[in-house]
Amino acid sequence: MSADEPAAAANAGRYVVPFGDVNRGRALFTGKGCVVCHAINGVGGKAGPALDADPEQAELDVFEFAARMWRGAPLMTVLQEMELGYQIEFTGSELADIARFLHDAEAQKSFDENDVPELIRDWMVDEVYDELDMQEMAQ
Ligand code: HEC
Repeated sequence: MSADEPAAAANAGRYVVPFGDVNRGRALFTGKGCVVCHAINGVGGKAGPALDADPEQAELDVFEFAARMWRGAPLMTVLQEMELGYQIEFTGSELADIARFLHDAEAQKSFDENDVPELIRDWMVDEVYDELDMQEMAQ
């Protein structure tokens, strides 16, 4: 696949991996509300781990990214219901966009408060939740 080839498709045949767009991913990271709980460049909530890209990691393993989200899913979905009142939804292609942005240390350098819409800024969660908190909440 040449570098300027757009959108989808990893290889010919039936196996499709969305390519992802870093700028759309940047907008989705704030617009979908991920930033309410996750910080990049120190901008964002503290409820979840910071999601700064590791500049040493050159490759984006999309399935590994999905697996990381899956591991965080039980706590994340409970917290999203609590903080936002709903579970965030996204399409596969939107998730690819977000993964792109979360993996791009260069693009993240310019991420600051101005990326975050006013409304979302008011929602930022400053508390760090840990499993103990969740156990107490469940009682
Ligand atoms: C309401 C708070 C909240 C929101 C909103 C939220 N997350 Fe999370 N997220 C968390 C918490 C808390 C964890 C850690 C879960 C755990 O440790 O079990 C987490 C874990 C993760 C992880 C795994 C991190 C790791 O390597 O340990 C990823 C990736 C992630 N979230 C991405 C996202 C994305 C992308 C969005 C937006 C679509 C999002 N999160 C929205 C709270 C949130």
